Amino acid sequence: MTEASFNRFRTFIEGNLGIKMPPSKMIMLETRLGKRLRALRLDDYEQYCDYVFSDEGFAQEIQQLIDVVTTNETDFFRESHHFDLMTSRVLPSLVQENGIKNLNVWSVAASTGQESYTLAMVIEEFARAKAIPLEYKILGTDISEKVLKIATTGIYTLHQASKIPDSLKRRYCMKSKNPEQKTLRMTPEIRQKVLFRQLNLMDDSYPIRKQYHIVFCRNVFIYFDRPTQKQVLQRIYSHIAPGGYLFMGHSENIGSVDLALRSISTAAYRKEE
Ligand SMILES: C[S@@+](CC[C@H](N)C(=O)[O-])C[C@H]1O[C@@H](n2cnc3c(N)ncnc32)[C@H](O)[C@@H]1O
Repeated sequence: MTEASFNRFRTFIEGNLGIKMPPSKMIMLETRLGKRLRALRLDDYEQYCDYVFSDEGFAQEIQQLIDVVTTNETDFFRESHHFDLMTSRVLPSLVQENGIKNLNVWSVAASTGQESYTLAMVIEEFARAKAIPLEYKILGTDISEKVLKIATTGIYTLHQASKIPDSLKRRYCMKSKNPEQKTLRMTPEIRQKVLFRQLNLMDDSYPIRKQYHIVFCRNVFIYFDRPTQKQVLQRIYSHIAPGGYLFMGHSENIGSVDLALRSISTAAYRKEE
């Protein structure tokens, strides 16, 4: 890829997605865009660059570009300490101490949905153990259409689902009727609690009306530079209910911001009442 093409991609990716694209990522970008070159039968990155930034190409191809440049790694019960904290501290404080009967939960960079469905299972288990009726809705958002499509199906390979404990699999997952198909699907009861929508964290404001009691914003800030992290955090913060909780990835933090967020555990915060 020529430096000129790289810089055009870089300007778009950093400016519109917030994802850092230093020159050291050129090879990674080439590898990922290679799939699109082959799909479109183009000879080189320069042709792809001209196409994607033309009027027609932008309309046809930009979502595919976004899908390949985002890193969507995720898992069920990833960084499981946060889910333990949900059961031991967050849910008791919101539901039992504050009497909230209708929880709003937001998975900010939901990827293929494993985080959202883990949250659903953890909330279900909590309500079951305490024998309390508990309503909740989980919103999963991401910029990539491709991952959101997978998330919406709630279908995972057995390998992808290997971190779900067997007892929860029995309660919240259905095996495929076709034994050749090594997949399972989240039950309709769980799927109907979770809604997936496209949202770009770089947008000036988010089309969200609710205030969220629990916000998972994990493993996306690592791709942003500091100024972007600050702006995105301010916007997310405005959608956290007073007394609500924010979770970041274990290698992320809120940095030095003037927000009413108190650290309660590793990469976990509570917004002051
Ligand atoms: C590594 S995944 C994190 C998934 C999950 N939160 C977890 O911790 O397992 C990061 C996700 O952030 C999404 N993402 C990257 N930039 C974004 C942006 N500007 N707006 C919304 N989502 C974005 C990517 O598409 C990707 O699915």
